[in-house]
Amino acid sequence: MSALSSALPDFPWDLLEPAKTLAAAHPDGIVDLSVGTPVDPVPPAVQEALSATSDSPGYPLTAGTPALRAAIAGWLARACGTTGEPGVLPTIGSKELVAWLPTLLGVRPGDVVVIPSVCYPTYEVGARLAGAEVIRSDSLTAVGPDRRVKLIWINSPSNPTGRVLPAAHLRKVVDWARERGVTVVSDECYLSLGWETTPVSVLADEVTGGDHTGVLAVHSLSKRSNLAGYRAGFVGGDPALVAELLAVRKHAGMIVPAPVQAAMIAALTDETHVADQRARYAARRDTLRTALTKAGFEISHSEAGLYLWATRDEDCWATVDRLARRGILAAPGAFYGPAAARHVRIAMTATDERVAAAADRLAEPFTD
Ligand SMILES: Cc1ncc(COP(=O)(O)O)c(C=O)c1O
Repeated sequence: MSALSSALPDFPWDLLEPAKTLAAAHPDGIVDLSVGTPVDPVPPAVQEALSATSDSPGYPLTAGTPALRAAIAGWLARACGTTGEPGVLPTIGSKELVAWLPTLLGVRPGDVVVIPSVCYPTYEVGARLAGAEVIRSDSLTAVGPDRRVKLIWINSPSNPTGRVLPAAHLRKVVDWARERGVTVVSDECYLSLGWETTPVSVLADEVTGGDHTGVLAVHSLSKRSNLAGYRAGFVGGDPALVAELLAVRKHAGMIVPAPVQAAMIAALTDETHVADQRARYAARRDTLRTALTKAGFEISHSEAGLYLWATRDEDCWATVDRLARRGILAAPGAFYGPAAARHVRIAMTATDERVAAAADRLAEPFTD
């Protein structure tokens, strides 16, 4: 038996421990901006929906209840501009789907999965779990005529860069993939967090022409509705691909708990809490952006999403240390790909009090 974990990339977060210890030694405590974990409350209506279904003795449906499936389809129509009848399927958060999607769709050793050059590490993990090769590229021209390509991941708004891909770009990717029978999967878990532009879903009619063949969009309620602790996500798109995912997931027991399914309906049918949460992040983003810019950082992309992608044009670990000496913990760009070694990722997911503390500390002269 060979250990599957040996095929996976190193788990990089351990490398951040020394900086975390340094930041934690600050007399006023650490400001941890290294991870995108929500800190604000779960919306009350969502909590109520969860507790109202806590008496759920039977097995839930892998496909989701009819009410949840309708809520997902309705949300895709309203928020993504999707017409027709896309396949829909709830998932246990989106990370498990990202990690298992290539395997579930039959990607094999010898196949290639294309991922963005700078990206969320789990795309690579998923390809490696399937035994496939990974190509990091933002340009399909650079990928060329490689017939081994079976799946392409795109992520807009991007974690970590906050870059948004315009509809024309998404359309080119979909057209390229369709000509070659390649599946396009778009991770859109930050779709509701556009700041300088309105992100477009790969399932928008202006991208697909109303035909979902070969296209999937992965969504999460973790960021949009502060539901990271509930594990609530879903996938929508090509009905044949979604049916294939459902068939395998049923066998594998990849089922969203019934109370979480009920909570998802409450979250997907209310936009007020989404607007409230957006307003909190908008204020934190302004505070952090202003403070970082004054401290000599340059902010790249970051037009959407939960992060500021910042650089002092030096090695990312030097920046991480500089910030840690001020009690601020950031994630080094190197975690997201070799092309990102001069950036750090600064999350907006901290309380207003901690964000204000970070801004005060950034105002001290950056002489070291
Ligand atoms: C780009 C991206 N995709 C997927 C996820 C997974 O989110 P979850 O499993 O909470 O839905 C994250 C989490 O940070 C992310 O940044």
